[in-house]
Amino acid sequence: MRIAATFLALVAGVAALDVWLNWFDNKCRDANSVRCKSLAPNVCCTVSRAHRRRGNPFSSIEFRDVPRAWKIEARGYRGDDCRMRQDTRAMRGSLKLCLDHGAFSGAGYGFLAERAVGAEGCSSSVRPSILSFSDGPQYNITDLDDDLLDVAALGGRSMDVPQKFDANRIDEAL
Ligand SMILES: *[C@@H]1O[C@H](CO)[C@@H](O)[C@H](O)[C@H]1NC(C)=O
Repeated sequence: MRIAATFLALVAGVAALDVWLNWFDNKCRDANSVRCKSLAPNVCCTVSRAHRRRGNPFSSIEFRDVPRAWKIEARGYRGDDCRMRQDTRAMRGSLKLCLDHGAFSGAGYGFLAERAVGAEGCSSSVRPSILSFSDGPQYNITDLDDDLLDVAALGGRSMDVPQKFDANRIDEAL
């Protein structure tokens, strides 16, 4: 089983799964959100403690573009570096799923046929690379370490983003 799941992951292209962490909306709809694109299995997608403010700021987590052949466990966490499991659901043959039993600090997933790595299933952490505002515009936050996340975390809209971040705006919707 272990080999089969890993093989399927390779065939489908490990680059396929996107995870969205949503502020304010517990049904994965039109929220300000941050996204980990092409998240690898057993990796925690989370933002820094400074950017989490009250600890577990995300109300829902959406798993998107999951290859239909994948059988995975979608995991929502609370605490630093995905320390504690908050919500878990199995996905078998569905393209997307919304975890809505927050609040969350981050998310990850693992193949159902494999044993989880570590106590809660994460071997490492990554930061999201894309910030999306509920009114549409998206920003590349790969190399940013400051106020842009705060604008979104406080419920701002894209019009509230300081001009200095114009260069980080992504023109095509991803
Ligand atoms: C975001 O920026 C990084 C480097 O600053 C770049 O490597 C990456 O391709 C960009 N991603 C998108 C989606 O524009």
